[in-house]
Amino acid sequence: MQLAERINAITVSPTLAVMAEAERYKARGIDVVDFGPGEPDFPTPEHIKRAAIAAIEQNFTKYTATAGIPPLRKAICDWHAAQFGSQYAPNECIVSVGGKHAIFNAINVLINPGDEVLIPVPYWVSFPDIVKYAGGRPEYIKTEAKDGFRLRAEQVERAIGPRTRILILNSPCNPTGAVAPPDEFLRILEVCKRRGVWLLSDECYSHFTYGEARPFSIAGVPEAKPHVITIGSLSKTFSMTGWRVGYALAPAPLVEAMLKLQSQSTSNPTSIAQHAALEALKGPMDSVGTMLAEYARRRERIIAGLRAIRGITCTEPQGAFYVFPNFEALLGDDLQCTSDLAKQLLEREHIAVVPGEAFGAPGYLRISYATSMERIEEGLKRLGRFFQSASAAP
Ligand SMILES: Cc1ncc(COP(=O)(O)O)c(C=O)c1O
Repeated sequence: MQLAERINAITVSPTLAVMAEAERYKARGIDVVDFGPGEPDFPTPEHIKRAAIAAIEQNFTKYTATAGIPPLRKAICDWHAAQFGSQYAPNECIVSVGGKHAIFNAINVLINPGDEVLIPVPYWVSFPDIVKYAGGRPEYIKTEAKDGFRLRAEQVERAIGPRTRILILNSPCNPTGAVAPPDEFLRILEVCKRRGVWLLSDECYSHFTYGEARPFSIAGVPEAKPHVITIGSLSKTFSMTGWRVGYALAPAPLVEAMLKLQSQSTSNPTSIAQHAALEALKGPMDSVGTMLAEYARRRERIIAGLRAIRGITCTEPQGAFYVFPNFEALLGDDLQCTSDLAKQLLEREHIAVVPGEAFGAPGYLRISYATSMERIEEGLKRLGRFFQSASAAP
């Protein structure tokens, strides 16, 4: 079938493909240890669910304004101000069908064919394809495990060319868990400002930080606003992945353009989900602390467990709910690359992981610890067994 060139330029999200393959195993009754998920394993908090039920009962079931109901736009601005010290007005906020949609809209209204978007590697799988779909060219900046996968301002400075329009910075990062320290973030902002490049700050994992790292938004810095597109999501913070609510905060003309695009594609995010989101942002946030404490426990266990397996090296992620260990020392004859490894782990030990190739980083696997401690223990046991038998093989 002849399809448009732009759809042939992209692929199905590899993380969703891994999820689908793991589901096929599970459907056959196989006990899969699923380290694949990019979503919290906690239910959406009760008070948020109740708000959605009330919305249905009160017949908030019709179209809303394309950019979201006014109280939600205001609540996002207020919440962001309270959390990070930013100062956005509702006309600088658009509610979208998840953070991914907000990123898609922002990139599509800014990019002309051939424009370049800087993407640090390892990257979240959707960034390059969204850029390609918009007709842009992803330009990659490699970050190193030995440097904690941190992006440096000098690297950004060097990578900017005449066609560069946007730098995407995802902190905390999916897949590495790297968190940009505020001083480095500021230096990166300075570079973007001086060189006339938008800084698209994807802070979907903002509230999941560990150790010294703290939730931070560059949009809280007073001089940042004209240069920054802030992308946020309720998916991870409030365990609401299926509700599909995210947002962008940006200068009003950019929000207007995104609204225009949204008005001709999805229209408003689901009315019921918007009412749930309103409750999430205005209600108690205890559930976030509860999740964070549990993630912190699992993170320690999984790092220790991985490091105990000979040949695996694992940098310490400071945010999100992923570890991104390196397996290069364990690759060889039967295992040429981490895609092979992921396939064999699923086939032989029924462990689902996402290969680093999906994130532009062969040699690594992304392991999500958004799963119970019991599953983590089981997964570590299976992983140890897999490599023991692999090294014992003639
Ligand atoms: C880095 C990053 N940004 C954005 C998103 C989008 O999340 P959502 O569309 O569910 O808000 C995700 C989801 O996995 C992500 O990992």
